[in-house]
Amino acid sequence: MKICVIGIGYVGLSAALCFAKVGHEVFCVDKDENKLNKLKSSILPIYEPKMEEIIKNNSSHLFFTTDIKKALSETKACFIAVGTPTKENGEVDTFATFEVMDEIIKYAPNETVIVNKSTVPIGFNEKLRQYVAKNSSKNFEIVSNPEFLKQGSAIDDFLYPERVIIGTNSKKAQEIMLEIYKPFNLDEDKILIMDENSAQMVKYAANSFLALKISFMNEIANLCEKTNANIEDIKRGLALDSRIGDKFLNAGIGYGGSCFPKDTKAIVNIAKNYKTDLKTIQSAIEVNENQIEKFIQKIIDFYNGNIKNKTFALLGIAFKPNTNDTREAPSIKIIQKLSSLGAKIKAYDPKAQYSNVEQVENIENALLGADCLIIATEWEEFKNISIEQLQKLNDKVIFDGRNIFINRNLNKYGLKYFCIGKNEQ
Ligand code: UGA
Repeated sequence: MKICVIGIGYVGLSAALCFAKVGHEVFCVDKDENKLNKLKSSILPIYEPKMEEIIKNNSSHLFFTTDIKKALSETKACFIAVGTPTKENGEVDTFATFEVMDEIIKYAPNETVIVNKSTVPIGFNEKLRQYVAKNSSKNFEIVSNPEFLKQGSAIDDFLYPERVIIGTNSKKAQEIMLEIYKPFNLDEDKILIMDENSAQMVKYAANSFLALKISFMNEIANLCEKTNANIEDIKRGLALDSRIGDKFLNAGIGYGGSCFPKDTKAIVNIAKNYKTDLKTIQSAIEVNENQIEKFIQKIIDFYNGNIKNKTFALLGIAFKPNTNDTREAPSIKIIQKLSSLGAKIKAYDPKAQYSNVEQVENIENALLGADCLIIATEWEEFKNISIEQLQKLNDKVIFDGRNIFINRNLNKYGLKYFCIGKNEQ
């Protein structure tokens, strides 16, 4: 089927590549011509495993263009995957979606199925319908199909999803959506059809629930430190309870990225419009914001408030491993605060860049001459740092925000080790 995807960011690009991989003819549209030109030569704007291979192997039916008219002609379905950031006042900014809708109104064939992949406020499709009715005589089916892929495993998440949510009451739109997802060979019970408002709510609820899980574990971890309990054991004890599950139980310096912080704030704001308080989600947000502050304070307290001229090796800039994304990354707060107090920071990340810090090429250079080590992201390669390397730190102190060394008994080797949710004996 000919499919058009508008908005070639994380979600749009992953979806487009996967639709092409399963055999659809896919037209990718974006305003950023430079990005599209690079993609034409298989140069990716982001680091994401498996993307390069798909783009190279599917060039016969994967097109990148700014020509929206050409992309929309004879298409049956058009996916919108533009950003929906949060405004200063907490509202979801859907401006980009309306901009795209103007183009769709002009160029899409009548009856095209318009699929919203972006995370949008509940009730948004009806607003789009009213907008179309006001500005055109065309008729479109508007469907919500929220995306659940994670950065770092975007391709596998899209190709082998745990569920696909299709939000529409229109039989015709359902048929087209099922045709689009047919080549993915999913079990029937993984495709959930529901009304559009519920589909939009599932997305916010899923991200908020996961954020809650993380904030919950972070609170328990903080209490573990006070009570001499061990968060790793709590995690093991919870994970085997199938009602709880073993995922998203890692305590740390809080969740970041472009989704959890944005979507938790958005749903709280949406609820306010209905005079409803989402107390649990609001608390998850507050716990998350405090978590990074507590971690930074722990470092400052260790040095009795004086970190001027101290050199910190900071490992990890990305908000999580296997991505080069630094949006809402806890590392940036650490860099900003410690630098403002006069500390020197040498940062290393295998993929991510941040311009306001001295960034070095490898772990060795980050550790060279450093007084203290901070772990902000749990990249695999950080886990293999040897005891000998750590012992070279001038102050022999490590603040591990991701608990990667929690089971290595570092204190036995003359190191002072601080993690989240366990006091070293
Ligand atoms: C998240 C959701 O997991 C996806 O399902 C969703 O599609 C996506 O948002 C989105 O809305 O687009 P993502 O932000 O890519 O995906 O990354 P996650 O793997 O969910 O991690 C988010 C944050 O939580 C990271 O900062 C990570 O370090 C943190 N985290 C995760 C923890 O602190 N503890 C954990 O146990 C798990």
